[in-house]
Amino acid sequence: MTNTFLDKTVAITGASGGIGQALCRQLGARGARIAALDRSDAVLAFADQLNSEGIEARGAIADITDQHAVAAAFASFGDVHVLVNNAGFSDQGTLAVTDPEGWRRHVDGNLNGAYNCVHAVLPQMVARKAGSIVTVGSVNGLGALGDPAYSAAKAGLISLTRALALEYGRYGIRANIVLPGTVRTPIWTERIRKDPDVLKRLERWYPLGRVAEPEDVAEAIVFLASDAARAITGAALPVDCGLTAGNIVMARELTLEDF
Ligand SMILES: NC(=O)c1ccc[n+]([C@@H]2O[C@H](COP(=O)([O-])OP(=O)(O)OC[C@H]3O[C@@H](n4cnc5c(N)ncnc54)[C@H](O)[C@@H]3O)[C@@H](O)[C@H]2O)c1
Repeated sequence: MTNTFLDKTVAITGASGGIGQALCRQLGARGARIAALDRSDAVLAFADQLNSEGIEARGAIADITDQHAVAAAFASFGDVHVLVNNAGFSDQGTLAVTDPEGWRRHVDGNLNGAYNCVHAVLPQMVARKAGSIVTVGSVNGLGALGDPAYSAAKAGLISLTRALALEYGRYGIRANIVLPGTVRTPIWTERIRKDPDVLKRLERWYPLGRVAEPEDVAEAIVFLASDAARAITGAALPVDCGLTAGNIVMARELTLEDF
Protein backbone atom coordinates (compact mmCIF):
# COMPACT_ATOMS: atom_id res chain seq x y z
CA MET A 1 0.00 0.00 0.00
CA THR A 2 2.82 2.42 0.84
CA ASN A 3 4.46 1.82 -2.55
CA THR A 4 1.40 2.71 -4.63
CA PHE A 5 3.51 4.74 -7.06
CA LEU A 6 6.43 2.34 -7.44
CA ASP A 7 7.93 2.60 -10.97
CA LYS A 8 5.79 5.65 -11.74
CA THR A 9 6.90 9.17 -12.53
CA VAL A 10 4.67 11.93 -11.26
CA ALA A 11 5.08 15.40 -12.77
CA ILE A 12 4.07 18.21 -10.44
CA THR A 13 3.82 21.85 -11.43
CA GLY A 14 4.36 24.53 -8.82
CA ALA A 15 6.44 21.86 -7.10
CA SER A 16 8.49 24.19 -4.91
CA GLY A 17 5.43 25.93 -3.41
CA GLY A 18 3.52 25.01 -0.25
CA ILE A 19 1.17 22.31 -1.57
CA GLY A 20 3.75 21.25 -4.19
CA GLN A 21 6.43 20.43 -1.61
CA ALA A 22 4.03 18.48 0.60
CA LEU A 23 2.82 16.57 -2.43
CA CYS A 24 6.31 15.70 -3.67
CA ARG A 25 7.17 14.29 -0.23
CA GLN A 26 3.94 12.31 0.15
CA LEU A 27 4.21 10.85 -3.36
CA GLY A 28 7.91 10.17 -2.89
CA ALA A 29 7.16 8.32 0.36
CA ARG A 30 4.88 6.06 -1.68
CA GLY A 31 7.61 5.21 -4.16
CA ALA A 32 7.03 7.79 -6.93
CA ARG A 33 9.82 9.32 -8.99
CA ILE A 34 9.22 13.06 -8.88
CA ALA A 35 9.42 15.35 -11.91
CA ALA A 36 9.27 18.76 -10.28
CA LEU A 37 8.46 21.80 -12.41
CA ASP A 38 8.29 25.39 -11.24
CA ARG A 39 8.99 28.83 -12.65
CA SER A 40 11.11 29.51 -9.56
CA ASP A 41 14.71 28.30 -9.69
CA ALA A 42 14.19 27.14 -6.09
CA VAL A 43 12.82 23.98 -7.71
CA LEU A 44 16.35 22.77 -8.52
CA ALA A 45 17.52 23.04 -4.91
CA PHE A 46 14.26 21.43 -3.81
CA ALA A 47 14.82 18.47 -6.17
CA ASP A 48 18.34 18.10 -4.72
CA GLN A 49 16.84 18.16 -1.24
CA LEU A 50 14.35 15.40 -2.17
CA ASN A 51 17.18 13.26 -3.55
CA SER A 52 19.10 13.74 -0.31
CA GLU A 53 15.98 12.53 1.54
CA GLY A 54 15.96 9.35 -0.59
CA ILE A 55 13.24 10.46 -3.02
CA GLU A 56 14.27 10.18 -6.67
CA ALA A 57 13.58 13.62 -8.13
CA ARG A 58 14.43 15.76 -11.12
CA GLY A 59 13.73 19.49 -11.33
CA ALA A 60 12.93 21.70 -14.32
CA ILE A 61 12.48 25.45 -14.42
CA ALA A 62 9.61 26.43 -16.70
CA ASP A 63 6.75 28.87 -16.71
CA ILE A 64 3.60 26.88 -17.52
CA THR A 65 2.29 29.79 -19.60
CA ASP A 66 5.15 29.18 -22.06
CA GLN A 67 4.07 26.27 -24.24
CA HIS A 68 7.59 25.69 -25.60
CA ALA A 69 9.23 25.77 -22.17
CA VAL A 70 6.61 23.29 -20.94
CA ALA A 71 7.24 20.97 -23.91
CA ALA A 72 11.01 21.10 -23.26
CA ALA A 73 10.55 20.39 -19.54
CA PHE A 74 8.30 17.38 -20.20
CA ALA A 75 10.73 16.11 -22.85
CA SER A 76 13.43 16.19 -20.17
CA PHE A 77 11.20 14.20 -17.78
CA GLY A 78 10.70 11.24 -20.18
CA ASP A 79 7.80 8.93 -19.21
CA VAL A 80 5.21 10.66 -17.05
CA HIS A 81 2.48 8.44 -15.62
CA VAL A 82 0.71 11.02 -13.47
CA LEU A 83 0.40 14.78 -13.92
CA VAL A 84 -0.55 17.10 -11.08
CA ASN A 85 -1.46 20.58 -12.31
CA ASN A 86 -0.73 22.48 -9.13
CA ALA A 87 0.90 25.78 -10.18
CA GLY A 88 -1.28 28.83 -9.66
CA PHE A 89 -1.40 32.30 -8.17
CA SER A 90 -3.64 35.29 -7.52
CA ASP A 91 -2.75 38.91 -6.87
CA GLN A 92 -5.86 40.87 -7.88
CA GLY A 93 -8.60 40.60 -5.27
CA THR A 94 -11.50 42.43 -6.90
CA LEU A 95 -12.82 43.31 -10.35
CA ALA A 96 -12.17 46.96 -9.54
CA VAL A 97 -8.42 46.38 -9.26
CA THR A 98 -8.31 43.92 -12.17
CA ASP A 99 -7.12 45.31 -15.47
CA PRO A 100 -7.10 43.57 -18.87
CA GLU A 101 -3.43 42.63 -18.50
CA GLY A 102 -4.14 41.18 -15.04
CA TRP A 103 -7.16 39.24 -16.27
CA ARG A 104 -5.07 37.69 -19.06
CA ARG A 105 -2.19 36.94 -16.69
CA HIS A 106 -4.50 35.07 -14.28
CA VAL A 107 -6.25 33.09 -17.01
CA ASP A 108 -2.84 32.28 -18.50
CA GLY A 109 -1.18 31.29 -15.23
CA ASN A 110 -4.07 29.31 -13.76
CA LEU A 111 -5.93 27.83 -16.77
CA ASN A 112 -3.99 28.05 -20.02
CA GLY A 113 -0.78 26.88 -18.34
CA ALA A 114 -2.52 23.76 -17.03
CA TYR A 115 -3.81 23.10 -20.53
CA ASN A 116 -0.23 23.41 -21.86
CA CYS A 117 0.89 20.69 -19.41
CA VAL A 118 -2.04 18.43 -20.30
CA HIS A 119 -1.23 18.92 -23.97
CA ALA A 120 2.38 17.95 -23.32
CA VAL A 121 1.60 14.63 -21.54
CA LEU A 122 -1.55 13.37 -23.25
CA PRO A 123 0.12 11.76 -26.30
CA GLN A 124 2.29 9.45 -24.17
CA MET A 125 -0.63 8.61 -21.85
CA VAL A 126 -2.81 7.77 -24.87
CA ALA A 127 -0.02 5.59 -26.32
CA ARG A 128 0.30 3.79 -22.95
CA LYS A 129 -3.49 3.61 -22.53
CA ALA A 130 -3.07 4.72 -18.93
CA GLY A 131 -2.65 7.92 -17.01
CA SER A 132 -3.98 10.05 -14.20
CA ILE A 133 -4.28 13.82 -14.18
CA VAL A 134 -5.15 15.67 -10.99
CA THR A 135 -5.62 19.41 -11.05
CA VAL A 136 -5.60 21.79 -8.12
CA GLY A 137 -8.63 24.03 -8.51
CA SER A 138 -10.22 26.05 -5.75
CA VAL A 139 -13.55 26.62 -4.03
CA ASN A 140 -13.31 29.92 -5.94
CA GLY A 141 -14.20 27.89 -9.02
CA LEU A 142 -17.64 27.16 -7.51
CA GLY A 143 -18.74 30.54 -6.21
CA ALA A 144 -17.73 34.17 -5.94
CA LEU A 145 -15.25 34.66 -3.09
CA GLY A 146 -13.13 37.49 -4.47
CA ASP A 147 -10.14 37.17 -6.83
CA PRO A 148 -12.44 37.16 -9.90
CA ALA A 149 -9.89 36.52 -12.66
CA TYR A 150 -8.36 33.67 -10.62
CA SER A 151 -11.85 32.33 -9.90
CA ALA A 152 -12.84 32.37 -13.56
CA ALA A 153 -9.68 30.46 -14.40
CA LYS A 154 -10.31 27.93 -11.60
CA ALA A 155 -13.89 27.43 -12.88
CA GLY A 156 -12.35 26.79 -16.29
CA LEU A 157 -10.16 24.07 -14.75
CA ILE A 158 -13.27 22.21 -13.57
CA SER A 159 -14.55 22.32 -17.14
CA LEU A 160 -11.19 21.16 -18.54
CA THR A 161 -11.18 18.26 -16.05
CA ARG A 162 -14.65 17.11 -17.09
CA ALA A 163 -13.78 17.37 -20.80
CA LEU A 164 -10.67 15.25 -20.22
CA ALA A 165 -12.67 12.65 -18.27
CA LEU A 166 -15.24 12.32 -21.04
CA GLU A 167 -12.91 12.26 -23.99
CA TYR A 168 -9.95 10.28 -22.66
CA GLY A 169 -11.63 7.71 -20.43
CA ARG A 170 -11.56 5.23 -23.29
CA TYR A 171 -7.74 5.42 -23.18
CA GLY A 172 -7.68 4.55 -19.49
CA ILE A 173 -6.87 8.14 -18.57
CA ARG A 174 -8.58 9.60 -15.49
CA ALA A 175 -8.89 13.31 -14.73
CA ASN A 176 -10.02 14.76 -11.41
CA ILE A 177 -9.78 18.09 -9.62
CA VAL A 178 -9.47 19.03 -5.96
CA LEU A 179 -11.03 22.25 -4.75
CA PRO A 180 -9.19 23.53 -1.68
CA GLY A 181 -10.54 26.22 0.60
CA THR A 182 -7.96 28.27 2.49
CA VAL A 183 -4.64 26.44 2.85
CA ARG A 184 -1.76 27.73 4.97
CA THR A 185 0.94 28.23 2.27
CA PRO A 186 3.23 30.99 0.99
CA ILE A 187 0.47 32.08 -1.44
CA TRP A 188 -0.82 34.02 1.60
CA THR A 189 2.47 35.78 2.34
CA GLU A 190 1.46 39.14 0.88
CA ARG A 191 -1.98 39.18 2.56
CA ILE A 192 -0.48 38.09 5.90
CA ARG A 193 1.98 40.98 5.56
CA LYS A 194 -1.01 43.36 5.22
CA ASP A 195 -3.03 41.62 7.96
CA PRO A 196 -1.20 39.12 10.19
CA ASP A 197 -4.52 37.73 11.52
CA VAL A 198 -6.15 37.02 8.17
CA LEU A 199 -5.97 33.21 8.39
CA LYS A 200 -7.11 33.21 12.03
CA ARG A 201 -10.18 35.30 11.15
CA LEU A 202 -11.04 33.08 8.19
CA GLU A 203 -11.32 30.05 10.49
CA ARG A 204 -14.84 30.96 11.62
CA TRP A 205 -16.15 30.30 8.08
CA TYR A 206 -15.00 26.67 8.26
CA PRO A 207 -17.17 24.01 9.98
CA LEU A 208 -14.00 22.17 11.03
CA GLY A 209 -12.88 25.39 12.71
CA ARG A 210 -9.58 25.57 10.90
CA VAL A 211 -8.00 26.19 7.53
CA ALA A 212 -6.29 23.33 5.71
CA GLU A 213 -2.59 22.51 5.83
CA PRO A 214 -0.69 21.67 2.60
CA GLU A 215 -0.46 18.01 3.72
CA ASP A 216 -4.29 17.78 3.89
CA VAL A 217 -4.61 18.76 0.23
CA ALA A 218 -1.69 16.54 -0.77
CA GLU A 219 -3.40 13.47 0.78
CA ALA A 220 -6.51 14.00 -1.35
CA ILE A 221 -4.41 14.47 -4.49
CA VAL A 222 -2.39 11.33 -3.74
CA PHE A 223 -5.62 9.33 -3.42
CA LEU A 224 -7.10 10.65 -6.69
CA ALA A 225 -3.79 10.14 -8.51
CA SER A 226 -3.46 6.55 -7.31
CA ASP A 227 -5.01 3.31 -8.53
CA ALA A 228 -7.10 3.32 -5.36
CA ALA A 229 -9.28 5.86 -7.23
CA ARG A 230 -9.40 3.70 -10.38
CA ALA A 231 -13.18 4.13 -10.83
CA ILE A 232 -13.15 7.88 -10.18
CA THR A 233 -12.90 10.33 -13.05
CA GLY A 234 -14.42 13.74 -13.71
CA ALA A 235 -14.79 14.36 -9.97
CA ALA A 236 -14.45 17.81 -8.38
CA LEU A 237 -13.59 17.13 -4.73
CA PRO A 238 -13.75 19.96 -2.19
CA VAL A 239 -10.86 19.78 0.30
CA ASP A 240 -12.19 22.73 2.22
CA CYS A 241 -12.78 21.88 5.88
CA GLY A 242 -16.52 21.99 5.13
CA LEU A 243 -16.74 25.49 3.62
CA THR A 244 -18.96 24.49 0.69
CA ALA A 245 -21.27 22.30 2.82
CA GLY A 246 -23.20 25.45 3.69
CA ASN A 247 -22.72 28.83 5.27
CA ILE A 248 -21.91 28.30 8.93
CA VAL A 249 -21.70 32.00 9.80
CA MET A 250 -25.19 32.61 8.40
CA ALA A 251 -26.53 29.38 9.97
CA ARG A 252 -25.36 30.54 13.40
CA GLU A 253 -27.08 33.90 12.87
CA LEU A 254 -30.28 32.32 11.53
CA THR A 255 -30.68 29.77 14.33
CA LEU A 256 -29.43 32.04 17.12
CA GLU A 257 -27.48 28.96 18.21
CA ASP A 258 -23.79 29.01 18.93
CA PHE A 259 -22.43 25.88 17.24
N1 LIG B 1 -3.18 28.22 -0.42
C1 LIG B 1 -4.50 28.36 -0.61
O1 LIG B 1 -5.21 28.93 0.21
C2 LIG B 1 -5.12 27.76 -1.87
C3 LIG B 1 -6.52 27.64 -1.90
C4 LIG B 1 -7.10 27.09 -3.04
C5 LIG B 1 -6.31 26.69 -4.10
N2 LIG B 1 -4.96 26.83 -4.03
C6 LIG B 1 -4.18 26.42 -5.18
O2 LIG B 1 -3.15 25.52 -4.79
C7 LIG B 1 -2.11 25.58 -5.77
C8 LIG B 1 -0.77 25.65 -5.07
O3 LIG B 1 -0.70 26.87 -4.36
P1 LIG B 1 0.05 27.08 -2.97
O4 LIG B 1 -0.97 27.51 -1.99
O5 LIG B 1 0.93 25.93 -2.69
O6 LIG B 1 0.89 28.39 -3.33
P2 LIG B 1 2.46 28.68 -3.41
O7 LIG B 1 2.56 30.09 -3.81
O8 LIG B 1 3.11 28.23 -2.15
O9 LIG B 1 2.95 27.73 -4.58
C9 LIG B 1 2.65 27.96 -5.93
C10 LIG B 1 3.85 27.52 -6.74
O10 LIG B 1 3.49 27.61 -8.14
C11 LIG B 1 4.56 28.23 -8.82
N3 LIG B 1 4.01 28.90 -10.00
C12 LIG B 1 3.09 29.88 -10.01
N4 LIG B 1 2.83 30.24 -11.26
C13 LIG B 1 3.59 29.47 -12.06
C14 LIG B 1 3.78 29.37 -13.46
N5 LIG B 1 3.13 30.19 -14.30
N6 LIG B 1 4.62 28.44 -13.95
C15 LIG B 1 5.30 27.62 -13.11
N7 LIG B 1 5.19 27.68 -11.77
C16 LIG B 1 4.35 28.59 -11.27
C17 LIG B 1 5.17 29.22 -7.82
O11 LIG B 1 6.51 29.55 -8.16
C18 LIG B 1 5.06 28.43 -6.52
O12 LIG B 1 6.22 27.63 -6.29
C19 LIG B 1 -2.42 26.78 -6.66
O13 LIG B 1 -3.00 26.33 -7.87
C20 LIG B 1 -3.43 27.55 -5.85
O14 LIG B 1 -4.30 28.32 -6.65
C21 LIG B 1 -4.33 27.35 -2.94
